[in-house]
Amino acid sequence: MNDYKQLAYEYEVLNSREDIYKQKDFFKRIIEKYNIKSSLDCACGLGWHLEMLDELGVKCYGSDISSDMISLCKENLMSKNIVVKVEDYKKLNSSWDIKFDMIICVTSAINHMLEDKDIIEALKSMNNRLSDNGILVIASGVSDALIINKPKLIPAKLYSDKAVYFFLEYLDDKVIFNIFNIRKTEASFEHSLNSMTLSLISKKRLEYCSLLAGFKIIELFGDFEFNEYIEADMSKRLIMLLKKTPN
Ligand SMILES: C[S@@+](CC[C@H](N)C(=O)[O-])C[C@H]1O[C@@H](n2cnc3c(N)ncnc32)[C@H](O)[C@@H]1O
Repeated sequence: MNDYKQLAYEYEVLNSREDIYKQKDFFKRIIEKYNIKSSLDCACGLGWHLEMLDELGVKCYGSDISSDMISLCKENLMSKNIVVKVEDYKKLNSSWDIKFDMIICVTSAINHMLEDKDIIEALKSMNNRLSDNGILVIASGVSDALIINKPKLIPAKLYSDKAVYFFLEYLDDKVIFNIFNIRKTEASFEHSLNSMTLSLISKKRLEYCSLLAGFKIIELFGDFEFNEYIEADMSKRLIMLLKKTPN
C-alpha cells in the first residue's frame, strides 16, 4: 500500500480544499440529474468532497484506508454531522450496512489498485453498497493522454512561497509519482519527497474492469466542466459515471 503517513500532512498543498470546491457545479448537476440523497466518499482523504456534498444537501459518509488521512478529515469536518471511518474500499460491506445513492472514488484513488483483479474487487465492493438506481463516480488524473505521452515532469502546483513537482517513472502498467515538495523558508528552502505507485488505468481498462464488476457506463467526461473525454490525447482527467447492470 502507498503510505500516506507523511503525505497526509502535506496533502492539502497537492489537492487543496479550494481546488476541490472548483468541482462543486459538476457535483451539483450530477446530484440533481440522478436525484442523489446520500453519498459515500470511499477514499475521502481530507474530507473536502464530503464537506462540499453536505453543503449541496446530500447526507454524507466517508471512509479511507489511511488512519492519518481520517484523523485529519475528522478535524476538518468537526462542525459537520458526517460519519467517517478507516476502511478499505475493497471491503465496504464489512463497514457499512446502508446503501448509497452515490459513491465517489476520486482524485486517482482507484489507481492505488495495481492489478486488474484488485480494481475489479474494489469496483464490486462499491457496486454492492449502491442503491438500485445508484451511481458510482470514478475520477482519475491518470488519463489516456498521460499514458500515451508519458511526461517525466509535471509542475503540479506553483505558489509564491512553495512548489510541488511530480517526477514520473513508468514501469509497464504502473507509474511512480515522486512528489517533490519545496517550501521557501526565511533564509533558504526546505523540501520533502514522497513517492507513490499508481496503476495506469486507461479508459479501456476501466471499462473492462467495470463491466466485470457489474457496471455499465452512463457518462464519460475529460474534466469537471463536462467536456467530452478525448482518448487519443488532450483530456487530463478520466471521469466515469457508472450504474449497476440489472441482475
Ligand atoms: C490521491 S488521494 C485522494 C483523496 C481525496 N479523494 C481527494 O480528492 O483529495 C487517494 C486516497 O485514496 C486512499 N486509498 C488508497 N487505497 C485505498 C483503499 N484500498 N481503500 C480506501 N482508501 C484508499 C488514500 O489513503 C488516499 O487518501
